[in-house]
Amino acid sequence: MTDLADLKTELLGAVEGAADGAALDAVRVEALGKKGRITAQMKTLGGLDADARREAGQALNALKDEVAAAIEARKAALEEADLEARLATESVDVTLPVRPQPEGRIHPISQTMEEVAAIFGEMGFTVVEGPDIETDWHNFTALNIPPEHPARQMHDTFYMADSADQLEGAAGKADGDDNAGGAHLHTGAMPGEGPERVIKLLRTHTSPVQVRTMLAQEPPIRILVPGRTYRCDSDMTHTPMFHQFEGLVIDEATHMGHLKGCLIDFCKAYFEVEDVPVRFRPSHFPFTEPSAEVDIGCSREGGELKIGAGDDWLEILGCGMVHPKVLEMCGVDPERYQGFAFGMGCERIAMLKYGIPDLRTFFDADVRWLKHYGFLPLDVPSVTGGLGQ
Ligand code: DAH
Repeated sequence: MTDLADLKTELLGAVEGAADGAALDAVRVEALGKKGRITAQMKTLGGLDADARREAGQALNALKDEVAAAIEARKAALEEADLEARLATESVDVTLPVRPQPEGRIHPISQTMEEVAAIFGEMGFTVVEGPDIETDWHNFTALNIPPEHPARQMHDTFYMADSADQLEGAAGKADGDDNAGGAHLHTGAMPGEGPERVIKLLRTHTSPVQVRTMLAQEPPIRILVPGRTYRCDSDMTHTPMFHQFEGLVIDEATHMGHLKGCLIDFCKAYFEVEDVPVRFRPSHFPFTEPSAEVDIGCSREGGELKIGAGDDWLEILGCGMVHPKVLEMCGVDPERYQGFAFGMGCERIAMLKYGIPDLRTFFDADVRWLKHYGFLPLDVPSVTGGLGQ
């Protein structure tokens, strides 16, 4: 029989020397497995006499227990070391600077555009855009704005340089001669149709996109037009560039009731006030007949504006049934089709909803302002998911 003390030293040494779980398992099999060395010793007990067998058996059992315990202890130690090593490599360096948060914000104008498009989109309107540089014909004439209309005066409209020369020339020559070159000559014919040069301007409203759409597509028409508009005006409540939404619906049986229902639904959805009072006030626009302006109910107690409560009114948009002359000029048969249109100031409704007191701050490009009033890029407005908060 092998000297047990040697075997013990050897096996315990092997256990201690096992560098990982696999090596330790190999030692276990070598010592305690079916063909292991301790097991082999056990098998020799049968050839001993009773006393020697008892003594050797006890010694072998003690060795077996000791080796098994050593293996368990080594196993625990290896696992512990393994964990330590993993913790060391996976540790978080708390001295690292925090991951930069997105700094950018969506401008309230962009957010409002998205909100309004989401509401009218639900109602079946399609978003359409048009050019910022328009012809005098699309911006005025086709919308039944006659030459002497105040909106045509130079102080309201930004004419393109070339056009301004034409206008100045026209002012001189036009005295007493209505057929002289210049603005008036362009008012009757569509650009390109007459012999005149086309007068270009920065559109003063989004309404010319009504004209472009009616010329380009057959009714039924149901469009929403967000866009930039320009007027030569700058004070507390006016900026030379601002934004509007235009709406146009043309169909065979569209009437004023549809106009009212559509705009009342819009006000409720946009201001998120179920019983917001809405008032249609008779008004005048050359391109609609009848025309109305829409006011929403509000209160201004203690200098704080509240939508939907109190007995004050705020004008938010202009609207009406499209004038038959406009339909005709845009190639739509007024005997067969009719429809409604509306126009709304984007800054205005954004200021009302988000409590932004000064119009001019919209265009200051002040990052602190944008951080305060702006929206997170993932706040995409939708009627079901929520509009801006
Ligand atoms: N274009 C008008 C403006 O800028 C607004 C407007 C009023 C548009 C009535 C419309 C309308 O389509 O029907 O003041």
